Amino acid sequence: MTESAVDPQSAGTAGFAPEDPEVFRRRALTTLTAARDRTTLLTTCVDEPDLTAQHSPLMSPLVWDLAHIGNQEEQWLWRTVGGQEAIRPEIDSIYDAFEHPRAERPKLPLLPPEEARAYAADIRARVLDVLERTAFDGSRLTEAGFAFGMIAQHEQQHDETMLITHQLRRGPRALTAPDPEPAPLFTGPAEVLVPGGPFTMGTSAEPWALDNERPAHTRDVPAFHIDTTPVTNAAYQAFIDDGGYADERWWTPEGWAHIRAHGITAPLFWRRDGRQWLRRRFGVTEVVPPDEPVLHVCWYEADAYARWAGRRLPTEAEWEKAARFDPATGGSMRYPWGDDDPRPEHANLGQRHLRPAPAGSYPAGESPLGVRQLIGDVWEWTASDFTPYPGFRAFPYKEYSEVFFGPEYKVLRGGSFAVDPVACRGTFRNWDYPIRRQIFSGFRTARSAEDV
Ligand code: AVJ
Ligand code: FE
Repeated sequence: MTESAVDPQSAGTAGFAPEDPEVFRRRALTTLTAARDRTTLLTTCVDEPDLTAQHSPLMSPLVWDLAHIGNQEEQWLWRTVGGQEAIRPEIDSIYDAFEHPRAERPKLPLLPPEEARAYAADIRARVLDVLERTAFDGSRLTEAGFAFGMIAQHEQQHDETMLITHQLRRGPRALTAPDPEPAPLFTGPAEVLVPGGPFTMGTSAEPWALDNERPAHTRDVPAFHIDTTPVTNAAYQAFIDDGGYADERWWTPEGWAHIRAHGITAPLFWRRDGRQWLRRRFGVTEVVPPDEPVLHVCWYEADAYARWAGRRLPTEAEWEKAARFDPATGGSMRYPWGDDDPRPEHANLGQRHLRPAPAGSYPAGESPLGVRQLIGDVWEWTASDFTPYPGFRAFPYKEYSEVFFGPEYKVLRGGSFAVDPVACRGTFRNWDYPIRRQIFSGFRTARSAEDV
């Protein structure tokens, strides 16, 4: 499915080869089930007081996420797609993210853990009946199983959110996962030249792409160089050691004011121990691994590091061109490695590991030009504000993307180790405030090709 910007408004089903309803039904069932398995793991590995506690004012209690997942599924798959009467209309407002900011949620009359679990399970059982009866055509909401894919992505997004809550939680380790394969120190070129010229950004063909990824359109992107791998902890420590946090030259005025006001001198969860840096990760303290991509930095820190390095953050269009442009065809692919769905050898996704893999890992996932780890490991801050593509239409609700467009949010790309493949593609767009660093965020840098 090499894509070009020809038919920008069709929903398209090219991401799934056979256009057989049973394929959509199976894929919907598989992805909804995988999401629920992950949700169950994240909400059974701690005890009840832990589920209802607020581990950080930045996050909801885990039990809020759990019932919110069920409530979104009730609203979209049971009521809207299934055409059925509301099961628990009285709780809609408790689980409406816009009515109640995260810091307020512990004070709401939340369903207790057992009730939240039973509610989500009841909705799921009903939804699987709806899935059996649904025809995958005739409406944009169900075409290629879109609404089921949207809800599976929504649950997986909250599974990443819940993993962030787990990282903020104090106390002994609750989750374990094998570490990524150790990788030999990456010795390839530090940067890659991406040739100038137009490329196709966004998608009109990916069936489960969300509204903000649409439509496919042409962008002219002048030649630029981009880092082959995300910036590592070792490289970031060089910035710290060089006094980067004490040197106003590297910071935007807002960034400088922010780090001064909050006393920020290192990534979140880092602590200096004599001459080395330690970090806390899911309840365990460890020496910061030098060859891993840096994690838990805000946009201001990423931007300051890039300026210190004599470089800059890539724009969102540059990032996507590096990730999708195939110089052999001139078209855009679904992923850096081509059009195949992600496999374990391509990228570190899906909470298979609870940390990024060393820089230079996953050679099978590199782009045609040789850029590595664009997908998975760490979300990558870009220079760009979150804005709609030309021809954007909110679908199916304005509160997913449209209400967030504007200069207060920066775009992150590529997904982290914590995001499931269903919610991560070459076109997928994430966004957050430039001060945020509890998220699994890192970055890579770039420079324009005419610069020396
Ligand atoms: C796309 C990650 C910014 O968590 O706020 C979840 C995803 N939207 N429920 C968020 C989302 C509604 C969203 N992000
Ligand atoms: Fe949500």
